[in-house]
Amino acid sequence: MREGTATLIRREDYCAPAFWIRTVDLTFDLDPAKTLVTSKMQLERNAAVAHGALRLHGEELNVLRVLINGESVSFRQEGHELIIDNVPDADFALEIRNTCAPDKNTALSGLYTSGGSFFTQCEAEGFRRITYFLDRPDVMAIYTVLLRADKAKFPVLLSNGNLLDSGDLDNGRHFAKWHDPFPKPSYLFALVAGDLVAREQRVRTRAGKDHLLQVFVRRGDLEKTEHAMNSLIASIVWDEARFGLPLDLERFMVVGVSDFNMGAMENKGLNIFNTSALLASPATATDADFARIESIVAHEYFHNWTGNRVTCRDWFQLSLKEGLTVFRDQEFSMDMAGGASARAVCRIQDVRALRASQFPEDSGAMAHPVRPDTFVEINNFYTPTVYEKGSEVVRMYQTLVGRAGFEKGLKLYFERHDGQAVTCDDFAAAIAAANPGSALSTRLDNFKRWYSQAGTPRVQARGVYDAAAQTYTLTLKQHNPATPGQEHKLPQVIPVALGLLSAEGQALPLQLQGEDQAAGLERVIVLDEAEQSFVFTNLASQPVPSLLRGFSAPVVLDDGLSDADLLVLLQHDADAFNRWEASQRLALNRILAAVRSGSALQLDSAFIEAMRAVLRHPELDAAFKDLALTLPGEGYIAEQLEVVDPQAIHAAVEAARSQLAQALREDWIEAFEANQIQGGYTPDPVSSGKRALANLALSMLVLDAARSGDTVWPGRAYQRFKDAGNMTERLGALSALVNAHAELAEPALARFHELFKDDALVIDKWFALQGRTPELDGKSFARVKQLTQHPDFTLKNPNRARSLISSLCMFNPAAFHRADAAGYVFWAEQVLALDAINPQIASRLARAMDRWTTLAQPYRSAALEAIRRVAAKPDLSSDVREVIDRALESDKSADAAA
Ligand code: TRP
Ligand code: ZN
Repeated sequence: MREGTATLIRREDYCAPAFWIRTVDLTFDLDPAKTLVTSKMQLERNAAVAHGALRLHGEELNVLRVLINGESVSFRQEGHELIIDNVPDADFALEIRNTCAPDKNTALSGLYTSGGSFFTQCEAEGFRRITYFLDRPDVMAIYTVLLRADKAKFPVLLSNGNLLDSGDLDNGRHFAKWHDPFPKPSYLFALVAGDLVAREQRVRTRAGKDHLLQVFVRRGDLEKTEHAMNSLIASIVWDEARFGLPLDLERFMVVGVSDFNMGAMENKGLNIFNTSALLASPATATDADFARIESIVAHEYFHNWTGNRVTCRDWFQLSLKEGLTVFRDQEFSMDMAGGASARAVCRIQDVRALRASQFPEDSGAMAHPVRPDTFVEINNFYTPTVYEKGSEVVRMYQTLVGRAGFEKGLKLYFERHDGQAVTCDDFAAAIAAANPGSALSTRLDNFKRWYSQAGTPRVQARGVYDAAAQTYTLTLKQHNPATPGQEHKLPQVIPVALGLLSAEGQALPLQLQGEDQAAGLERVIVLDEAEQSFVFTNLASQPVPSLLRGFSAPVVLDDGLSDADLLVLLQHDADAFNRWEASQRLALNRILAAVRSGSALQLDSAFIEAMRAVLRHPELDAAFKDLALTLPGEGYIAEQLEVVDPQAIHAAVEAARSQLAQALREDWIEAFEANQIQGGYTPDPVSSGKRALANLALSMLVLDAARSGDTVWPGRAYQRFKDAGNMTERLGALSALVNAHAELAEPALARFHELFKDDALVIDKWFALQGRTPELDGKSFARVKQLTQHPDFTLKNPNRARSLISSLCMFNPAAFHRADAAGYVFWAEQVLALDAINPQIASRLARAMDRWTTLAQPYRSAALEAIRRVAAKPDLSSDVREVIDRALESDKSADAAA
């Protein structure tokens, strides 16, 4: 893993493979300490590529023998390659025998053990840690897999596809033989062996075919799989109904594992899940967990078509499958949510996540296009840009060609490319070809700049009303800021969905100059130059523009609207997303003004009354109210500032929160009382919205009690914490106490730990809550340091490491960015400790310093020192090395820009 120098891989250097592997027969003699792998492959030269040696990938393997057509051949090993110089020209059989050590595999890539069972994770380049192979996604083979293992310890033996045979062997061992009829790249290979149990369900698809669905987990976890199974069934039904895409295997398996680097993995017919993305019961999982599980189960299932049936030619095309599949899972979640308001809530949550994670990435050291041009370690590019911005790009296709047009485009994509490994260009070409003459097809080349240009476009919108002519001229300008390695950029194609409102909030008919009549109350205009004006006619009075409705493009919008305009939108906009956006802008403007001027924040009555009106609104959903009354995140606020003082931002946000808590006290009480749910728990949007608002209200009431000295609300919170019938309410009450630093927080935390000490996923929540506790006098940071010594804490389990360390370093700015630099010293220590165990997890933590160049002093210098400390370590993984090098380089680009 650490040998050789890290090399930069370039997209433009792509070469087709010199050989194809058509079939693979794998035999595994599973043993935790030393597993024997026998691989028999049928190879053939790629006629399109000149002669050359066969170079196979392999890492951390012991090769035992190499045979071609049954004869042993000589080979060389160079770095991570096994090279065979003398290869026949005709098709040939290659047999390789090697061993690997699953028990020692703490990186959780390749074949590893967790809780005494075997699991694999092969994306992106883990298969080469199992056996020597052409481990690249454009080499697609048909797999047959024979698993042999001790029957008592590993009664369940799974791999991709269909079970051909199984039975007993000598010495207490048994076997299972699997065959996957679909050719697939090695990254979709999977095996699982262990003492697992399954929830099973048979379903019949529209074509009348029967399928067996199975969710495998450890013995005690079976009751927690009902929601995942329901989500899987709903996903199957949805993909057939919305896109005509059926389940193509007799059997579809899902497996949970507690040691896993990401959320889940879409291995063909055998999805493997982090238990945190799979297991849920009302007593142990929150509403947010239920929603996340539904969306990840759907995401992995949807990959079966978008990723597996049509896969990526090379890893630069990652967003081809990830952006498209995130788009599909977001659409699914919206369709599952139901009515317009619940759909808008989904959209708001997605956009909030994009702004919190992707926007900072796009303006930081690791900024990269949706289709990157270079990488050192592909694992570093499973990013919000590739996933979430990639999804926004797919959404813009749909906005430009319409829903029906997009469905046609996707159909053509599968007609053209089923069974192939393709590029983002192929996707773009298919959507455009299915929609000739559309707003997309006429601008396709320029639209594709979304794949090549990093950075978030800035759009400025200004309107001028001409009373005499009754026209409103909307001028849109775009600016595409420089990012590391990309100084100059060209205009993007930006679909702007919009409406116009009268000052009284009436939606106005939209008629552009030159048209004989108005075309509805909402339309999409396309900004595809640096500056363009659009003239709306027949307007009797000055309108209020509602721009970028539903967040129709991933840009930062400066619409120059006044408070008065924003209040009109907040009260009347037909677009719920923009109503929410207005609430956030009103809050953001006030927080930014305080931070910029260095003065204490004092909320004005106009703002407070607007928030009161939302909270008391008779028609708005609780879920919407919760989102509108939640202040913008500290990370998002930081993104609006040229120089970032995390303590100043925190102080302003805390002031805003405590003033809202105080000024709306009676309203919070009413909201809390009005949103209680009687009866059993269901995670549906209406009840989860009510619980969210009740939790917010409770947190405000407990916070205000800390100011006023009232003991009633902390007492009620503690009571609710004790009596709660579900985790959403229990954790909500606990968070209210902990985040307000209430006295009752300590006994509540102790009680919570005692109650759930045997449930790892709940103990993760316990750590995460403490990792994210707002800072007060350095206590939160001190607590996190202390918790690293807790008997339940370990860096070896990714969920546990993230729950404490990432919570502090990535989600708790005021506790992390300390004038004494202790937070950064802590970060450096943890990155180095993690890197020795699991480079992927270490590298993600390393990214906490992405935005260090924008920090105010003394944070900036202290951050640099900590980054240099990590950089000085000689044997860093290439994962961490790439992130750290780019952080150091961003200093140069920041200095150059200054
Ligand atoms: N393809 C997976 C997904 O999006 C991502 C993934 C799971 C992954 N595990 C990984 C990526 C390990 C890199 C490394 O659903
Ligand atoms: Zn995915």
